[in-house]
Amino acid sequence: MGAEPSYGPDFGLLQKQDPEIAQILIDELDRVRSGIQLIASENFTSPAVLAALGSTLTNKYAEGYPGRRYYGGCEVVDRAERLAVDRAKRLFRAEHANVQPHSGASANLAAYAALLQPGDTMLAMALPHGGHLTHGSKVNFSGRWFDVVSYGVRRDTELIDYDEVRDLALRHQPKLIVCGATAYPRLIDFTAFRGIADEVGAWLLADVAHPIGLMAGGAIPSAVPYADVVTMTTHKALRGPRGGAILCTEELAKKIDRAVFPFIQGGPLMHVVAAKAVAFGEAMRPEFADYARRVIVNARALTDALAVDGMRAVSGGTDTHLSLIDLSALGVSGAEAERRCAAAGITLNRNVIPYDAEPATITSGIRVGTSCVTTQGMGPQELEEVGTLVSRVVRDPACAQEVRERVSALLAIHQPYLSEY
Ligand SMILES: Cc1ncc(COP(=O)(O)O)c(C=O)c1O
Repeated sequence: MGAEPSYGPDFGLLQKQDPEIAQILIDELDRVRSGIQLIASENFTSPAVLAALGSTLTNKYAEGYPGRRYYGGCEVVDRAERLAVDRAKRLFRAEHANVQPHSGASANLAAYAALLQPGDTMLAMALPHGGHLTHGSKVNFSGRWFDVVSYGVRRDTELIDYDEVRDLALRHQPKLIVCGATAYPRLIDFTAFRGIADEVGAWLLADVAHPIGLMAGGAIPSAVPYADVVTMTTHKALRGPRGGAILCTEELAKKIDRAVFPFIQGGPLMHVVAAKAVAFGEAMRPEFADYARRVIVNARALTDALAVDGMRAVSGGTDTHLSLIDLSALGVSGAEAERRCAAAGITLNRNVIPYDAEPATITSGIRVGTSCVTTQGMGPQELEEVGTLVSRVVRDPACAQEVRERVSALLAIHQPYLSEY
């Protein structure tokens, strides 16, 4: 008789067979457990998501779509993809879902491929104002292959200038308008974008990679009723595996599917597709709606605490899981603040702020997010303290050890992968 079959990760076996890699896994878990993670684009997936990711589904080639594969033996993985698609459609009230994109960037590439030809004009948010690389940066395929017109935020309000968006759309007649951002703390007015897109006959794509988890939990309005295509990542506030997905209208379903496969991808990552299904299932539960609401409450508590110490929130606050903080008044760069926080066990990233005089490697700001700490069970009181700790160590790096001790005390109560999901 053989041993019991193993369906998932066997850490003991990894330690025996490859102690070097096993040690890296241990060290990374230690790293996140001994520090506070304020990276706005990260989260801690549930153990169930991790189990699906570490499963034998990674072995299966399944080019194509359920029931229409180019490989044999796909009848089992078909069930995983059908579940993922059905759950995504139900969760987001979407007419169509494609769960195969390997990442958010791949989802955008596929969406552009479905809607545009090289050389076509698209209107999207400028990277220095919060847009993503894939929204037309010159160092990305999007900036090289399309004629990109960029909009930004107003200097006085630091909010999207919808009049500017409309003026640019009327002047340049883009085929596609992209809304959504990577460092914009406020709600986006999808109704306004829909109106502008309709006025100029453009497609509207909402790249909600960041706030899709908050939309899933009903904590902020969804982009789905307004956009022709919605692209997302599954690993940020949504708390699923690293990956992407696309939602669209029935009208665009075939175009989107063909753009993902065979146009930009080959075989889907079936273990990740299964993990996406798990995450969508988790996001349908009432606890997730509560989680999404708490993420925003926590982001506000953190932002307010930072503001007390002169760390100004760009646009004056946040409606989401993230805040962009202007450090100009402190005379400390974003890069230096990132280093000082790291020395105290707080991980965050430097970020350009709108109209930043510093380059992206230095920056005048930092970006903070509360998806991870909320998953760990922290509440507004803890986030108020985290804000004070960030501010103390950014102002005075000599406090690093003292701050680290408070960080450890907070983490002693709120550990990732120990509390319940
Ligand atoms: C708005 C937006 N779009 C796309 C992406 C790309 O996602 P990925 O890193 O999975 O390619 C990101 C990632 O941060 C993002 O913020």
